[in-house]
Amino acid sequence: MMKKMALVLIIAASVLMSCLNVCEAAVTEEPQVMHVGGKVLCQDCTKDYKEWVKGDKPINGSKVSITCMDERHRVVYYGSDGTDVKGQFELIVNKIRSNGKSFNAQDCLVRLISSPDATCNVFTNFGGGRTGVKLGRPSSVYRDLIKYTISPLYFTTPMCDEPHLKY
Ligand SMILES: *[C@@H]1O[C@H](CO)[C@@H](O)[C@H](O)[C@H]1NC(C)=O
Repeated sequence: MMKKMALVLIIAASVLMSCLNVCEAAVTEEPQVMHVGGKVLCQDCTKDYKEWVKGDKPINGSKVSITCMDERHRVVYYGSDGTDVKGQFELIVNKIRSNGKSFNAQDCLVRLISSPDATCNVFTNFGGGRTGVKLGRPSSVYRDLIKYTISPLYFTTPMCDEPHLKY
């Protein structure tokens, strides 16, 4: 009985070990191209708080940028994308630079650039879009695709641009 148990444990351990090897390989051979997705929404402060936070509407055609730095904090990559009717954007970034080196996803910042909507074009930092959002953990890694999804970024209405509402 004990022998059988030990055998089962050894098999289980070896299965676990081979999984760990695969996981490690996936980390070292990290994909060179990353996709960063998110949404740009409009917040209307004239609504009550619940609606303000939940009832936000997407902004079509707003611009979002990504800036990435090397280990000496020099900007080595800049890219931008526009949002679709659902307010969604997807930045596609190649991490390999012309000198063959690559930068870390964690050294990139995503920022709001512009909103085409005159009724909703005041920058807010709700979600971090004004100062810039860092990328966290990838939301998915599949073969050569690594994807990051950031939380929504917000513009607000000029009417809501009161000093006490700034973050
Ligand atoms: C969304 O914006 C694009 C330009 O960025 C425009 O061509 C398109 O007509 C807009 N769609 C809607 C439904 O407003």
